[in-house]
Amino acid sequence: MFGTRPEAIKMAPIIYSLQQHPDKFETIVTVTGQHREMLEQVMTAFKLSADYNLQVMQQNQTLSDITANVLQKLEKLLQQVKPDIVLVHGDTTTTFAASLATFYEKIPLGHVEAGLRTWNKYSPFPEEMNRQLTDVLSDLYFAPTKKSRENLLAQKISADKIFVTGNTAIDALKQTVSEDYQHETLTKIAPGQRLILLTMHRRENLGLPMKQVFAAVNDVLHQDPTVEVIYPVHLNPKVQALAQAAFADNPRVHLVKPLDVIDFHNLCAKSYFIMTDSGGVQEEAPALGKPVLVLRDTTERPEGITAGTLKLVGTKRTVVAEMMQQLLAKDSKLYQTMAKAANPYGDGHAAERIIAAIEYYFKLEQQRPTDWIG
Ligand code: UD1
Ligand code: UDP
Repeated sequence: MFGTRPEAIKMAPIIYSLQQHPDKFETIVTVTGQHREMLEQVMTAFKLSADYNLQVMQQNQTLSDITANVLQKLEKLLQQVKPDIVLVHGDTTTTFAASLATFYEKIPLGHVEAGLRTWNKYSPFPEEMNRQLTDVLSDLYFAPTKKSRENLLAQKISADKIFVTGNTAIDALKQTVSEDYQHETLTKIAPGQRLILLTMHRRENLGLPMKQVFAAVNDVLHQDPTVEVIYPVHLNPKVQALAQAAFADNPRVHLVKPLDVIDFHNLCAKSYFIMTDSGGVQEEAPALGKPVLVLRDTTERPEGITAGTLKLVGTKRTVVAEMMQQLLAKDSKLYQTMAKAANPYGDGHAAERIIAAIEYYFKLEQQRPTDWIG
């Protein structure tokens, strides 16, 4: 079960792997439709189809809207389908509401990308609580890294229920990036210019934080004519309005529609560096050797910071502009340090390990799968 763009991207490798074992698994794909167009983009790019779509999305939906709709619609569906296990992913409101509905039906629950933590209730909001609550309700935990396993152990989750698998984001990335990739968006960038890829959508960054970051981008571009920005703007009307207001008069900031995942991964690979408040992008960029300025005050992905690829810069105008300038400076030492490819999030075989863990859980295999060491 999933409902938004990032969940679909990271569930796709698991669906493919499950479908390769029809003798053992019947795979039923249920989408809540928390996202509409952005979910559809992923389903099309990865050639996935949903068996059930709850179609909950509303313009400017509140957290209660999503939670209540998913709960009500899933109650009937779960009673009808009676699955042996439900798999959810990550930390969205779909994740939490689907987990609660599954618990109410007393059906086993597996949490993919379990154990990420900032330990700060309101940052990111509501994701930190969505994932903690989902972990309270789960029976099987697919922790992407050793660190996420430790976080689960700290909350007294029993070790035999936790499998360290790597993140399926890396499985997905292996299918999408190609050397000779071309896209019309790239033709907007004059030859020799350096490309910054920007994304920003988090609820806690709506308003002043976004205004400050966008102002920093304008400040830096004003001073440095060698830089252009591509910003695929999230379809949230509040984000759209802020992006338009900040960048409508800046011809070197290219506001484009959300890109499909194949286009986006390849643009990441072609960029000079990335600025984002996204969770998933923080996992993908280290694998591509792209420096990332993380536009947040906290991150649940400390592995990328330790690896040196991510820098947590927050959202203050002066700080963001200063960090951009440091990365853009001639012979920047910071750039050289951050642009080293590292892969703290997986080896591209996470989905296989998750399937093996499910087989073990149902006693289809006697051997417990080995954890990914990283
Ligand atoms: C959601 C998740 C967030 C995740 C993000 C990924 C929650 C509370 N938030 O945030 O954790 O990082 O997805 O992108 O679960 N919209 C469209 N079409 C779409 C998608 C969104 O029009 O395809 C608009 C709608 O007006 C919608 C609004 O965007 O009401 C916000 O969408 P929502 O899913 O509530 O929040 P996100 O910010 O996307
Ligand atoms: N992504 C995409 N198109 C875009 C922007 C992002 O396909 O225009 C992908 C990105 O590669 C990553 C995922 O969407 O896999 C991240 O989604 P998002 O930033 O919306 O959510 P988060 O990861 O923050 O929950």
